[in-house]
Amino acid sequence: MITLERVKESRVLKQYMISGNQYIGNIGAIEHNMKHAEWTANLCRDILFKVGADEREAELGAIAGYLHDVGNLVNRYGHGLSGAMIAFYVLLELGMDYGEIATIMGAIGNHEEQAKGSSVNRVAAALILADKSDVHRSRVRKRDKSAFTQRDRVNFAVTRSYIKVENDKGLISLIMRIDAEVCSVMEYFEIFLTKMMMCRRAANYLGYEFALVINNHRLL
Ligand SMILES: [Fe+2]
Ligand SMILES: [Fe+2]
Repeated sequence: MITLERVKESRVLKQYMISGNQYIGNIGAIEHNMKHAEWTANLCRDILFKVGADEREAELGAIAGYLHDVGNLVNRYGHGLSGAMIAFYVLLELGMDYGEIATIMGAIGNHEEQAKGSSVNRVAAALILADKSDVHRSRVRKRDKSAFTQRDRVNFAVTRSYIKVENDKGLISLIMRIDAEVCSVMEYFEIFLTKMMMCRRAANYLGYEFALVINNHRLL
């Protein structure tokens, strides 16, 4: 069975993930580096475990999490769709089970709000939650604050962000700390509302309510 460790050995994937991140960096996008891939992989696996998935489904989540942004190589727009196709080709070459490839393709192809991503399966739902929670100042590449876009500023304002799954309350929470000197909570909300709605639907798909907690205030 193909594991995340095996996928990480793929030189072609590593090359495309690095090039993709470089290309979108050239047009000013925030970091989508190996750290983001690893974070998403680990968190996606963790969320699936906590909502009761078995080991294999959680491993598929980790693989989807690791690969989800590989499509940036082709274009920032539609990178979920192109990423799903790149993953298809590479995972097929590695000899992965066809049904498992399908799960991962559906998840990667549905992680973007611009491409109307939806939780088409449990891995897709966990991937949305894991990916959207990686908002942090370390992802902003620009050093010159006057060149910040609104999205850069919002990311820069976030000093802490994590997901909490509480089975007893049936609740998945995204908990954040925002430096209100850099951006207001309202500004965060304005920019990330679509992402947060996507997270809510993802949590619902997994059978949980969703909460967004910023600076100790529950906003959703
Ligand atoms: Fe993405
Ligand atoms: Fe991502």
